[in-house]
Amino acid sequence: MPRFLTVLFLILTCAIGGSAAAQTRPADPLAPPDGIGPDLRAAYETGRLIFNGHWRPSGTDGPDKLEGLGPLYNRISCASCHSAGGRGKPPGGPGENFLTALVRIGVVGEDGSVEPHPLYGQQIQDRAIPGMKPEAELSLTWRYEKGRFPDGTPYELRRPDLTITPDPGPDARWSIRVAQPLHGVGKFAHAVPGPDDTGRFGWKAAMPSLAMQNASALSQDMGVTNLFFPDPICPPAPEPCGGNRNEAGGVRLMSLTLFTELLPPPDLSQHRNGKGEMLFMKIGCGGCHKPEIALRTGPERIMAYSDLRRHRMGEGLDDGLPEGAAASDEWRTAPLWGLGAVLADDPRAPLLHDGRARGAEEAILWHGGAAARARHAFVNLSREDRGYLLEFLGGL
Ligand code: HEC
Ligand code: HEC
Repeated sequence: MPRFLTVLFLILTCAIGGSAAAQTRPADPLAPPDGIGPDLRAAYETGRLIFNGHWRPSGTDGPDKLEGLGPLYNRISCASCHSAGGRGKPPGGPGENFLTALVRIGVVGEDGSVEPHPLYGQQIQDRAIPGMKPEAELSLTWRYEKGRFPDGTPYELRRPDLTITPDPGPDARWSIRVAQPLHGVGKFAHAVPGPDDTGRFGWKAAMPSLAMQNASALSQDMGVTNLFFPDPICPPAPEPCGGNRNEAGGVRLMSLTLFTELLPPPDLSQHRNGKGEMLFMKIGCGGCHKPEIALRTGPERIMAYSDLRRHRMGEGLDDGLPEGAAASDEWRTAPLWGLGAVLADDPRAPLLHDGRARGAEEAILWHGGAAARARHAFVNLSREDRGYLLEFLGGL
């Protein structure tokens, strides 16, 4: 990290450490946390404007001067994928665009190492500024499979199949990722045990810090160059592509990072600790979805329902594409806080990294690998007990 940013970051992180307070769900989902001073609040508001702001191609005049979009990109703002700081959805089927999800890609060698794809790099940018061609057209088809609980109750699962045009070739592996919910994400950096060199952010916990995660989003998702990623995302040569190597600017990146750092976590004060939670702990869900974790910054504990670690989830959730130190079937335990609001809006809301699960029950049915025993115990619960457990998840 450039030195002045490191210093600024340390100052801000210390300031934030002391600002912990129990949150109540605000009417405005992006409202600043209670109890922060005017300076932090001003920086937070700047970050929020950048988060919601629309980036434009260089040389176009706009009121907020967010210039530097593209040439290739996925969306024009952070909020277009993380609407109100929330999670995304995959397309419903062929002919629907990727609006709040994206596709990572790579070529896996015989020794298991991954290289960026020669045509597409690490991510497919399916949009481009005027005068340029998007990298590819994406078309998603769902494949359905049926199963039964041991008590005979039927269920249906779906898994995604993707057509990428132009065809990336037989050695390419792709990974669909829906936008993650961001409320409370700033706490993850301070949770013990601390992030090690294997990272903490993203569905695979491959990113080591929020600053890096945000810088990577600016670069990969919006084509906005910055201090960490100075090279533009270009189509393969000889197409012309270039421009300013720091379109975002250091202060903007800092404000954006401060905003994500401080964005208040979901409020679990109303959450019930009944039979559902007892079952959740008893059958081993809580081994990974740890109800509470401690923070290094003070006595506060967060109720994220995650150990924030990666686990090998087995064949069902293996999309074939490793990332950094994470194997292709390895995912960070998804924090379950905030799930209640998502499921209250839509009981069949798309869950898991690619949004394949329609609601919590399907998400659990996809668990395998290190979570196979917990899944087994879940399917063998009585229908009534499964209901208690799902009801508990709906209150998180
Ligand atoms: C095209 C859709 C898209 C856009 C635009 C986008 N994101 Fe994301 N965001 C995602 C996806 C997908 C992930 C999960 C990535 C992964 O698994 O590596 C993610 C993950 C994150 C995370 C990590 C959350 C966690 O729990 O670890 C943060 C923080 C984040 N985004 C912030 C931003 C910011 C800030 C911007 C704007 C600069 C932005 N995103 C723009 C799709 C998007
Ligand atoms: C070995 C660790 C582990 C165990 C045990 C485990 N999970 Fe998970 N859980 C995960 C991981 C990792 C993910 C993310 C997988 C993905 O995105 O593909 C996840 C995702 C989820 C999700 C989807 C959340 C979201 O935001 O998309 C739900 C719901 C869930 N788990 C519930 C449960 C329940 C209920 C149990 C007990 C039956 C359980 N899990 C047991 C590791 C575990």
